[in-house]
Amino acid sequence: MTNATFLTQNNEQAEWWRSAVIYQIYPRSFADGNGDGIGDLPGITEKLDSLATLGIDAIWFSPFFKSPQKDAGYDISDYRQIDPIFGTNEDFDVLLAKAKSLGIRIIVDIVPNHTSDQHAWFQAALAAAPGSVERGYYHFKDGKGANGELPPNNWQSIFGGPAWSRITEADGSLGQWYLHLFDSSQPDLNWENPAIADEFDEILRFWLKKGVDGFRVDVAHGMVKRAGLPDATIYDENLRERSISNLTMDEAELAVPYWGQPGVHDAIRRFRRVIDEFDDRAMCAEASMSPLPRLAMWVRPDEYHQSFNFDYMHSAYEPEAIKKIVTDSIVEYGKVGASSTWVLSNHDGIRHATRLGIAPENTPRPGDGIHPTDPMPDEALGLRRARAATSFMLGLPGSSYLYQGEELGLPEAWQLEGKYRQDPTYARTNGERIGRDGCRVPLPWVADATASNGFNTTGESWLPQPANYRVFARNLQEGVAGSTLELYKRLLKERRQFGLGSGQFRWADEYQDKNTLAYINNGVLVVTNFGPEAVVVPAGEILVTTQHDLSIEGELEHDQTVWIKL
Ligand code: GLC
Repeated sequence: MTNATFLTQNNEQAEWWRSAVIYQIYPRSFADGNGDGIGDLPGITEKLDSLATLGIDAIWFSPFFKSPQKDAGYDISDYRQIDPIFGTNEDFDVLLAKAKSLGIRIIVDIVPNHTSDQHAWFQAALAAAPGSVERGYYHFKDGKGANGELPPNNWQSIFGGPAWSRITEADGSLGQWYLHLFDSSQPDLNWENPAIADEFDEILRFWLKKGVDGFRVDVAHGMVKRAGLPDATIYDENLRERSISNLTMDEAELAVPYWGQPGVHDAIRRFRRVIDEFDDRAMCAEASMSPLPRLAMWVRPDEYHQSFNFDYMHSAYEPEAIKKIVTDSIVEYGKVGASSTWVLSNHDGIRHATRLGIAPENTPRPGDGIHPTDPMPDEALGLRRARAATSFMLGLPGSSYLYQGEELGLPEAWQLEGKYRQDPTYARTNGERIGRDGCRVPLPWVADATASNGFNTTGESWLPQPANYRVFARNLQEGVAGSTLELYKRLLKERRQFGLGSGQFRWADEYQDKNTLAYINNGVLVVTNFGPEAVVVPAGEILVTTQHDLSIEGELEHDQTVWIKL
């Protein structure tokens, strides 16, 4: 690519999601209004002003619907009710109204791949006979073997162990098996059954009519399974991550008959038609698909508006790798008229302030946390790199997703003792896979205000904060020059000021050496030094930098980023 090539993304249009900065709230852990140790909607409403000050455009809420909380709310028993631990439907209306008054859009999480086993549909299916209409909502199958004692196929749960559980029929006999790609409390819905699509049309309309701005769609790549549910030839998720990219599309669909099946796209188009009944709404796919050209199929004009860019999140912290993914993302999404998204942290991965302090060879696989026996992360380096990486990301055109607490530079709570761990992965693998609790610990708001540093007034906390969370408390960073919170505010302000989310982007090879990456977006030069040597800072007005003491004559040290107005 030549220096003069601008990579444009079709995101000059007014569609808000193409350039939005979307902040993920994990409701259990953001702010706790009633002091029971679990975050809730009134707690969030009270703190919304702080998000307006941060400068975000929208909030994506992880699920707050009625749920037995076996997978922290991703096991839904009623899609139209707020779970009492988070509040009431009226509390949501209050939250939504306040967010709107602050100019913040709201995206809610929809989980169409599976329900909770406590959902009325599943309870009705259990009570009904094999072959009934009720069982047709899910994947109920007879087992293999002389007495049906073997699971119907070899699929494995993403959380560990088999993806099938056998039920006891109403008459007390051992009966059919049901499919659950995740925990056994999360039975997969059968999207071959048109009744399911009808149900979800109405669920979407329910929230759209309330005024939400869109949806994040959970496990968007898994909703439709291959007809006949044949055995997988790659059933180890670890292997899949590494090997599927080398397969043709047909081979991949056969090898993993539950991910990325062609029928998924019909289901998506149906969602899209419902969304399009309303103005200005958008939906984002959690589609763990790679390589990028395959993922881009999820965001064709009549499908999702955008999808998470997990290749970017999981990229090595290394200039050439990042350059390739950014270029491929803009090009591949651009081919189908979509804008790219960028993300570094979420509720399923190790917080990037810690992840980037782990040597590549020691980095746990995506979706897993840090095991007590893993080498200790270098947290100072991790934070420094996280600030540099975020500053690199927020200058890119497209939409960026932030995960609550990253604006505080919050590290992973990897020291959590086993007795506190709640991620089903931990129990399903007997602790071998430590799970994702380390990124889900409640936020510190006010240092020392309570044992939970102001998460609530009682000090209760469903996962205990580690001792080092105190120094990251928001009140210690507010208004403090050089703090991570002030860095984020500045980045978001300048991003908005210069229209970077919908800007004209090109790599600036003329400002780059072997350890740096440089690009220009709408006249703003962004340089990140991936180290180890300091580099000369190009001339121009410094808009924002991770290096607190950087002046125009200064040098940009290792793992630092600067934004310069040319
Ligand atoms: C998605 C969610 C994750 C959840 C899983 C099952 O990957 O992000 O948190 O455990 O789906 O619903």
